[in-house]
Amino acid sequence: MNRATTQLDATSPSIEVRDLRHVYKGGHVALDGVNLTCGTGVYGLLGPNGAGKSTLMRILCTLIRPTEGYVELCGYDVTRQHREVRRLIGYLPQDFGGWRSHRVIEVVDTLAQLSGLFGRKARRARVEQVIEQVGLADAAYRKVKQLSGGMVRRLGVAQALVHEPRVLVVDEPTVGLDPEERIRFRKLMEEIGRDRTILLSTHIVADLGAACREISILDTGRTVFSGSPAELFRSSVGAVFELITSPEMADKTEQNHEVVSRISTGDQVTLRAIASEDGLPPGATRVDETTLEESYMAFMSARGRASVARQDGELIDEPSVMELEELKIKEAVS
Ligand SMILES: Nc1ncnc2c1ncn2[C@@H]1O[C@H](COP(=O)(O)OP(=O)(O)OP(=O)(O)O)[C@@H](O)[C@H]1O
Ligand SMILES: [Mg+2]
Repeated sequence: MNRATTQLDATSPSIEVRDLRHVYKGGHVALDGVNLTCGTGVYGLLGPNGAGKSTLMRILCTLIRPTEGYVELCGYDVTRQHREVRRLIGYLPQDFGGWRSHRVIEVVDTLAQLSGLFGRKARRARVEQVIEQVGLADAAYRKVKQLSGGMVRRLGVAQALVHEPRVLVVDEPTVGLDPEERIRFRKLMEEIGRDRTILLSTHIVADLGAACREISILDTGRTVFSGSPAELFRSSVGAVFELITSPEMADKTEQNHEVVSRISTGDQVTLRAIASEDGLPPGATRVDETTLEESYMAFMSARGRASVARQDGELIDEPSVMELEELKIKEAVS
């Protein structure tokens, strides 16, 4: 079948990852057995530190060449059809924040040019539209260094969206944002995700929001869960308990159980925690309805390694890793 036809077929997946493996130079195995299929909508990518989320995202964005496996974006092979993939993808990296001395509008306009929007008038209109869409119209002429953290993340979304990509990849977009900015971000993702694919990685599980269609959990480089939020909820039925007790007893319980939340009211503490194999502490009751975060914690706890950060050695620079903008600059001048 013609590739272009595949790309236009609304029912075919936008992202298809099969048996992906990536070994960094120096021998560190970052991914080993990743499978993922995404259609239209918001897809959440969860997993502890070092699980391989950013590595997977960089592979999707053509920034790293995978060691083994098959990765397709809208019908294009990410290792062999870079240019097509780069046209169709927008990327907000985990550490977006460069371009500090440039004005918001300059950043978006430059990246729009790099993404192939050449007609000056039409480009300008699109740049203004996307700046408005992310709520930065009033800050369009401010320098990046004068923006708040939340505004920088929104600028990151604007640059990733300016060429109207079919697929948007956002890596940890809500880290360091205040609750208001997080809600605003969630709404923006819901709106954008209506007619395209968004793959969003986060440690703040609640930020996936109600619009999240499917969740994939990575753990030490492997896909360990793929399913709807409802399926993740189902997997944790009976795994979370609530205990209302004294501060002293609460401290004791925290030593033996993984606590998800602790709320103090007067001289009482309400704990919500993951039940261990030994059952519930005295006085605790099982929770009927868990939050998505609690379900995730329970799932990881059942795997025996909830929220354990990997203690890896030093990062080894991967010479082939370049930001998408740099690659686009290289392509534009070549
Ligand atoms: N350039 C590199 N060279 C060698 N190892 C690397 C490199 N980049 C990442 N790694 C290792 O690969 C593994 C996966 O890293 P990655 O950044 O993809 O994880 P992550 O899930 O995004 O983590 P986080 O939640 O902390 O952002 C980690 O063990 C990390 O130390
Ligand atoms: Mg990461």
